[in-house]
Amino acid sequence: MKEEEKDTKRSTFSVEQLQLICTDYMFPAASAVQAVLTFLVERLLIQPEVQDKIHEEIDRVVGRDRMPSLDDRQNMPYTEACIREIMRFETLVPLGVLHRTVKPTTIDKYHIPENTVVAFNYVSLHMDKKIWGDPENFRPERFIKNGILNLSADKSLPFGSDRYIRYDTKKDFSEKSTNQQNLNVRVIIVNEWPEIKGMRLSR
Ligand code: HEM
Repeated sequence: MKEEEKDTKRSTFSVEQLQLICTDYMFPAASAVQAVLTFLVERLLIQPEVQDKIHEEIDRVVGRDRMPSLDDRQNMPYTEACIREIMRFETLVPLGVLHRTVKPTTIDKYHIPENTVVAFNYVSLHMDKKIWGDPENFRPERFIKNGILNLSADKSLPFGSDRYIRYDTKKDFSEKSTNQQNLNVRVIIVNEWPEIKGMRLSR
């Protein structure tokens, strides 16, 4: 960049751009997927029957002798439905990233002038009773029809737009199925330890 500036006195790139690219990619790569998976682990503690179903699917499709791969994804509708459902249930970026209108526009009866900051409320979409019926329940089955993933039932927009959806759900799928293959999480209430002694805590 410095070389280019020396020769041409200008650059197609700037330090600010570099800083923002680093922020855009390093910040979410180090936080977003992990946060979603943490929410899912928390949910598995609250609803252990969901974890049992994920395990059953992993054991049946992948087994214990190899790592899960993205080729397994199409045969694991329940695990995928859990990832989609947690991103609906716990909206990671509630108001998305702020946008600016580049020209005047009209949405419904509202006129929005040029250069207006616009935010989308993804929580209201993800918790809309008219769309989901029972949005307050974590119910991965809502995305499954006749044993297969029913993508048309997924009206959620966890990534704001489908520009990112392929990459992110793939990464979530790989990480979650690999983690869960050898992990079993359970809530242990210390005072009740003697009563749960016989419980299998790890696999
Ligand atoms: C499950 C994980 C993630 C979720 C739920 C998520 C969600 C979102 C949402 C809601 C937006 C705003 C979209 C909009 O309003 O236009 C966004 C923007 C973005 N995300 Fe993610 N994201 C995730 C992971 C990642 C990862 C891993 C990366 C990069 C490695 C990434 C890079 C970006 C970038 C570059 C933008 C655009 C920012 C901008 O417009 O300035 N995201 N993401």
